[in-house]
Amino acid sequence: MSYLRIGLLLLIAVWLLVSCKEKNTATKQTAMQNKTWWKEAVVYQIYPRSFKDSDGDGIGDIKGIISKLDYIQSLGIDAVWLNPIYESPNKDNGYDISDYRNVSKQFGSMNDFDTLLAGFHQRGIKVFMDLVVNHCSNEHPWFKEASKSRNSPYYNYFHWWPAEKGEPPYRFSIFDEKGYGWEFNKATNSYYLHYFGDFQPDLNWENPKLRQEVYDIMKFWSKKGIDGFRMDALAFIAKDTTWPALPPEYNGVWVMYYASGPHLHDYIQEMNKEVLTPYKLATVAEAMGDVPRVKKFVDEDRNELNMAYNFEAIDFGYLPNEYKMPDPQGWDLVKWKQIYKRWDSAFTEKGWGTVYLANHDQPRMVTRWGNDAPEFRELSSKMLSTFILTMRGTAFYYFGDEIGMNNIKFDKVEDYNDVELHTNYAQVKAKGGDLKRFLEGMKISSRDNGRTPMQWDSTSGAGFTLGNPWLKINPNYTTVNVAAAEANQNSALHYFRKLTTLRKANEALQYGAFTLVDADNPDVFAYTRTLNNKTFLILLNFKNKTATLKTGMDLSKGKTLLNNYGSTNASETLQPYEASVIEF
Ligand code: NOJ
Repeated sequence: MSYLRIGLLLLIAVWLLVSCKEKNTATKQTAMQNKTWWKEAVVYQIYPRSFKDSDGDGIGDIKGIISKLDYIQSLGIDAVWLNPIYESPNKDNGYDISDYRNVSKQFGSMNDFDTLLAGFHQRGIKVFMDLVVNHCSNEHPWFKEASKSRNSPYYNYFHWWPAEKGEPPYRFSIFDEKGYGWEFNKATNSYYLHYFGDFQPDLNWENPKLRQEVYDIMKFWSKKGIDGFRMDALAFIAKDTTWPALPPEYNGVWVMYYASGPHLHDYIQEMNKEVLTPYKLATVAEAMGDVPRVKKFVDEDRNELNMAYNFEAIDFGYLPNEYKMPDPQGWDLVKWKQIYKRWDSAFTEKGWGTVYLANHDQPRMVTRWGNDAPEFRELSSKMLSTFILTMRGTAFYYFGDEIGMNNIKFDKVEDYNDVELHTNYAQVKAKGGDLKRFLEGMKISSRDNGRTPMQWDSTSGAGFTLGNPWLKINPNYTTVNVAAAEANQNSALHYFRKLTTLRKANEALQYGAFTLVDADNPDVFAYTRTLNNKTFLILLNFKNKTATLKTGMDLSKGKTLLNNYGSTNASETLQPYEASVIEF
């Protein structure tokens, strides 16, 4: 080989080394750039109606939450999200607001709210409020006025179709028995639009006056010092008001056509400029859609929002064209892992993700994603908590999951409170469908499973209420409750506290790169989280049997920091629902 060739090869080698090093530094910077509290946070969701009742009316309230502030702090969480606490006829439990500037009398007073907010802040806990502005209640004064006359100054706060133009162009409604999104109003001889129940008229965001009203409401709560908003149904606010016919490929996939009004992102950018940036608010939105759509909401260069929920993973495993009907074949872990991989990689450079397995619109995570049989309930609950707190993305954790609460599984339709359940039941009934099959499915997927009252202790009323609870309490409260969990050092509750401590102490668990390990393994969800020469290997067996995997790593070099069986030996053989966090 000539000297020239050797020199050339050396040059190439040096160039490769330098460029690789630069690339590594670039990856590090991307992962670590724009560090903020909400990226590192574990957000604990409180459904106020079901958390703690202080006055014996069977409904949770603000004073109840105040009485549990120390407990909430003891979990090691960083922020809370409160479901709507505003005045409401509660046909959709607070997602039908009749007064945006007042606290529901069922929950207490504004004074109580101020005390609660101060109590959270004194404990270093930030507060997300729910913002429900795709629609309001039909009992909101705006709608009451608007529905009196076309000349009302509030008429254009809503979407109307004048009856003289004939039938309105078809739109679907999610909480309407007939699935029809227009409701006739006699006084104005016109139809109003409601994507949800007919008691939830959609607000007209095309009207700048309405948008200012919304920003004023947001400023009202921001001035009180709240830290962020969880934004309900936000992707639906902007509509194409030429109401084009839905394309044939619509086929019930309403998110794709409803969540894409031409000015959607203009409005969010306007909101950001008016309220979000000036008040330094953090935001997480129900911004449905696939990854490219969702990215648009949270790409920081666009000045819109911070985070959006991943609906693709949570809606996985249901039969197509049937509402939340679990697939009797179960759900495929390998495909589910790929969804997380896709969503994680979408946010490696811009935007930020969220990780959650439950909320008030979902059943209990242990029933849906784990196993609520007595021998596996706590184990699989700990395994799922490990997942939520070791993935990249802000962790949203639902109250009660820290003690492994599971689905109540009502037998009778009368036991349900939820408007969604009753609507779907009526639809199946009207079609002459199999109601028994429907109710069986709902034992797994219905929202009320996640809304049963918090189980504080084994006294009657589960320490939740001294009265008659608004929704039945899961009868297993006699053994599954906070008091029992506090007394048992091996409980899911103590395990959860270890997880929040571990996550807080390790930047790699917050910002570190996520890489699937043994991706095609049908039983185990395994991944690494890596940052600055520190690697965590997380092994999660999602099955009720022993499982093995191939990590390709020398496990003898790792240190097991947490394991739900108490094991300290890292192994490629996992017991049912075993979870391990191993540090390298
Ligand atoms: C999403 C909320 O989370 C859900 O509970 C509610 O029913 C609908 N939006 C309508 O507001």
